[in-house]
Amino acid sequence: MSLSPDHIMAIGSGYGVSKALLSAVGLGLYSRLAEGPMSLAEITAAYRLHERPAMDWLDCLVSVNLLARDGVGPDAVYSNTPETAAFLDRAQPNYLGGILELWEKRNYRFWADLTEAMQTATAQNETKAGGTPFFETLYAEPDRLRAFMDAMTGSSLANFMTFADKFPFERYTTLVDIGGADALLSRQVAARHPHMRCATYDLALVTDIARTKIAEAGLSDRIEAKTIDFFAEPIPTADVVTMGMILHDWPLDKKKALIAKAYDALPDGGAFVAIEAFIDDDRRENTYALFMSLTMLLEFGNAFDFTGAEFETWCREAGFTRFESYPLVGPSAAKVAYK
Ligand SMILES: C[S@@+](CC[C@H](N)C(=O)[O-])C[C@H]1O[C@@H](n2cnc3c(N)ncnc32)[C@H](O)[C@@H]1O
Repeated sequence: MSLSPDHIMAIGSGYGVSKALLSAVGLGLYSRLAEGPMSLAEITAAYRLHERPAMDWLDCLVSVNLLARDGVGPDAVYSNTPETAAFLDRAQPNYLGGILELWEKRNYRFWADLTEAMQTATAQNETKAGGTPFFETLYAEPDRLRAFMDAMTGSSLANFMTFADKFPFERYTTLVDIGGADALLSRQVAARHPHMRCATYDLALVTDIARTKIAEAGLSDRIEAKTIDFFAEPIPTADVVTMGMILHDWPLDKKKALIAKAYDALPDGGAFVAIEAFIDDDRRENTYALFMSLTMLLEFGNAFDFTGAEFETWCREAGFTRFESYPLVGPSAAKVAYK
């Protein structure tokens, strides 16, 4: 068998290709190309780029099927691929660029300090230079808060739509979504299940954004947006308690505290649903979930993603007895613990 270094080099240099994509999303290139193909000259003029590096950047994206191209060199004309048109054009309902914009603005820089993060178990974000912790930093400016909400929409929309379609909501009438951000999950559930009454809970600054989104969706009669500090207060009672990408933000003792609060909030037979990119139990396959777990290390120092088996163990400790799993999009799942 002849060995090839290709895989090693593709992954080793992948950080640069990744950054080429993040630059394109950050500049809004894909949204602009949705209006029509652009020549190299038009792209360089639009973003005030030098021609030679712009050509290399664009053709790097062509080489990984993240741009289409007619012609070559100075005569080239670039356009979206079917995937970039569907998912990276801001005007499309399935836009997932919000999370890539967040990585472009902040996260990729933190990865330079991954080794240090593993040696010290400390965050490598703004806190390193004396800044405030993750949520305080994001929420200090309205623009940053909105960008974070867009990022959450980018990573969660398809999961929440799938969850709202698959979960047997006909058995229930009330849902509370804890850390519900701009009410994305509640909006998907209420829009598909007219009998459901939902309440979305988050920090005070966020609930104003949630209320606006709920009103825009015409769902104010069935979704309430309420304020909570989920560590200081109990979780309100409902048939279904959901947490989307909440548990992975915290260390183990706080994960367990949130699971215990969800248990207390449910009636017998009630369902606690965690929607996350779960690491596969054998910890061999789900690269995205492991990437996300390291992202939590870089943001918080002591937070981490986890396997479905770990989730089940913590839930059993809290008193949950029965479990189900609904596969969502890509590596994500809705794991359900029944009281
Ligand atoms: C990673 S986001 C997840 C948003 C959404 N559930 C999703 O999956 O797209 C975490 C959310 O938890 C909220 N949060 C953080 N600390 C909180 C606290 N102590 N009490 C209530 N919400 C909190 C944040 O404001 C943010 O909206």
